[in-house]
Amino acid sequence: MENSRRQFLFGSIQMAAWYGVFQLGTNRKAWAKSIRLTAQQWADQIAQLASDVTAGRLSGEEWQSAIERLHTRIPLADLIKALDVDRLVRETKQPQERLAVVQDVPIPLTEPQHDQTFGHKLFVYRRGDSTPPHAHNHLVSAHLTLRGNIRARTFNRLQDLERSILLQPTSDRSVGPGHTVSMSDARDNVHWFEGIADVSVTFDVPVGPITPKKKYGHPAQVWSQIYLDPTVPARGDGNIDAPLISFEDAVRKFA
Ligand SMILES: [Fe+2]
Repeated sequence: MENSRRQFLFGSIQMAAWYGVFQLGTNRKAWAKSIRLTAQQWADQIAQLASDVTAGRLSGEEWQSAIERLHTRIPLADLIKALDVDRLVRETKQPQERLAVVQDVPIPLTEPQHDQTFGHKLFVYRRGDSTPPHAHNHLVSAHLTLRGNIRARTFNRLQDLERSILLQPTSDRSVGPGHTVSMSDARDNVHWFEGIADVSVTFDVPVGPITPKKKYGHPAQVWSQIYLDPTVPARGDGNIDAPLISFEDAVRKFA
């Protein structure tokens, strides 16, 4: 994988404080024999969808629908075991800020050459930890809840304005195990997550960069993210003129 894609999908040193620190090994044997084929097909399909959306064979919104459907087919208990989620929760050192910890994990049963075309991360939340509200450029992603409950607030990105992004609120809901919250340019580009159980864990598949020729009104920061504040009063039509803020300000306000 070329360096730009690797950096795009796997973060940067600036986010180190937000990252867990331990390594997990790929654990092929962790899958029960009875579902190994299902898991293999699931992993292959994630790789295929990543390849299709990156090449433009699928739109971002089509990718969202496809991965949401796909994630309903993987037995969660087996996935949790294969990703060694119990160990991750036990050994994760949470930061002082109320931020979810992000951990890259190997995706079991994926061929190494496919493994690099998309991200695969676990997010661990204590009660009250958040992933502050942000938009994304050139990215699609899907967060599958594995454990606990997450409050997921999503918004459509209607228009990039001079110092803000005009948002249309689309959902504010509690999601539990088995539920996937996805995003693309076309649907729910802005999301904001908060752990509302003692411990919550999500599995995120980000894919990018996609639509390389698309021009956005605002450049992204690390991980293709743009932080903003959707808590300002809504306009008369219900849409929100959300000012852009720095990552530091997002942490101060939302973590
Ligand atoms: Fe995101």
